[in-house]
Amino acid sequence: MSLDDDGPRIGLLRDAPLVRIRLAWRRFARRIADHLPKGLYARSLLIVILPVLILQSVVAYVFMERHWRLVTGRLSEALARDVAAVIEVIDTWPQDPDWRQIGRIAERDLGFQVSVLPGSTLPPPMPRPFFSLLDNALSDEIATRVGRPFWIDTVGNSDLVEIRIVLKSGVLRVIARRSQAYASNSHIFLVWMVSASLVLLAIAILFLRNQIRPIQRLADAAESFGKGRAVGEFKPSGAREVRRAGEAFALMRSRIERQIEQRTAMLAGVSHDLRTVLTRFRLQLALLPEGPDREALEVDTDEMQAMLEAYLAFARGEGEEEAAPTDMAEMMAAIAMDAERAGFEIAILFRGDPEIVLRPNAFKRLLGNLVGNALRHADRVELSGSHADGWLTVTVDDDGPGVPEAERENVFRPFYRLDEARNQDEGGTGLGLAISRDIARSHGGDITLDESPLGGLRAVVRIPG
Ligand SMILES: Nc1ncnc2c1ncn2[C@@H]1O[C@H](COP(=O)(O)OP(=O)(O)OP(=O)(O)O)[C@@H](O)[C@H]1O
Ligand SMILES: [Mg+2]
Repeated sequence: MSLDDDGPRIGLLRDAPLVRIRLAWRRFARRIADHLPKGLYARSLLIVILPVLILQSVVAYVFMERHWRLVTGRLSEALARDVAAVIEVIDTWPQDPDWRQIGRIAERDLGFQVSVLPGSTLPPPMPRPFFSLLDNALSDEIATRVGRPFWIDTVGNSDLVEIRIVLKSGVLRVIARRSQAYASNSHIFLVWMVSASLVLLAIAILFLRNQIRPIQRLADAAESFGKGRAVGEFKPSGAREVRRAGEAFALMRSRIERQIEQRTAMLAGVSHDLRTVLTRFRLQLALLPEGPDREALEVDTDEMQAMLEAYLAFARGEGEEEAAPTDMAEMMAAIAMDAERAGFEIAILFRGDPEIVLRPNAFKRLLGNLVGNALRHADRVELSGSHADGWLTVTVDDDGPGVPEAERENVFRPFYRLDEARNQDEGGTGLGLAISRDIARSHGGDITLDESPLGGLRAVVRIPG
């Protein structure tokens, strides 16, 4: 029983380090990911290149290390043997004056220079070179083959190696070529390997570029469609999976376009038909005798007319309009001018590049709706825009009553109005914000409402571009 009780707690304890390791690993992976390139192209290149590079480095290191060690060892051994033989000859036939004969033989047959210096002292030992393979190998070999005090210099003159050995009657000085003791042409191997890597890199770049281009095209097409821009002819291409994604996108796009078309056509049709009936209605009303009943009916028909106009405006906005480069500062100035003509004054300000690609009429209707709302509710209105980091932001501030936080999403609903509750009905239909948000979203952006520093409502439109 008590064992059972302990079970889960022990399990938890045992898991704790595991969890910690997992967390640490996740943090480590995130930090690495932060430093890795973000693009697919660069990442795929890394995936191809990195393993090859690591493999080549390991192979090169192991091979070079062994090859160098072995060949240098053998060469050093041969040189040490030759030197030992020379010493043997000198010791056995010391009658050679000035050691001229042995010098001649060594130079001709063994390939190094020999001379005997008077005295029996060696220079102080040379500092160990950084790359000490040759130094080590040669020292070892001379120590075993000759067995006398010696001094070597493998660094001083880059092409030559100097060896001094204490003899019975002087100091033997041997000057050999470095290549006689050292595997010096191994860099050819490295050159070959680097060239092979470069060829591989070139091939990988060529192939990958072709593989990634269709994905890029698909991303571009999806992005411009999301921003409501003309996509043009999009033909799925590339690997099977990419082509499938492209085909799915093309299908989805045509479905959405068909749907929008249908909705627009229906809305336009209904509004148009109703307007005809409404006109007839008005005419008949005009024939009725005057009175409070007729007035009430006239107010209702006016309201209906306004609603229909809004519908039609909406339908037109969604229609065929193409995105085009538009001067945003100019558009804002035009809106301010319109307001001025109607007797209002609004302050405008624009920062950044004013040119942006969007559907000008639709966007002007959006801004017009927001500014119209502000003018209806407030005395002071400020319109400011900025275009930076790929986003256009337009802010409409006013000093009116604002919209309480709880209502800020509701007012975007079609026909939802606060004015009725506020008893300041001026014949709005409650479609303005719904249409505006629709336009903003069809550009790939959105509208949000907030409290304005002026005290009223702040409406912020953000669209990519
Ligand atoms: N700047 C504002 N200050 C205070 N209330 C606002 C402001 N803008 C909008 N509202 C409130 O949000 C509601 C919805 O606005 P919306 O623009 O959708 O409709 P509307 O202005 O009433 O009618 P329409 O724009 O179709 O003529 C409005 O009824 C109003 O109460
Ligand atoms: Mg409005």
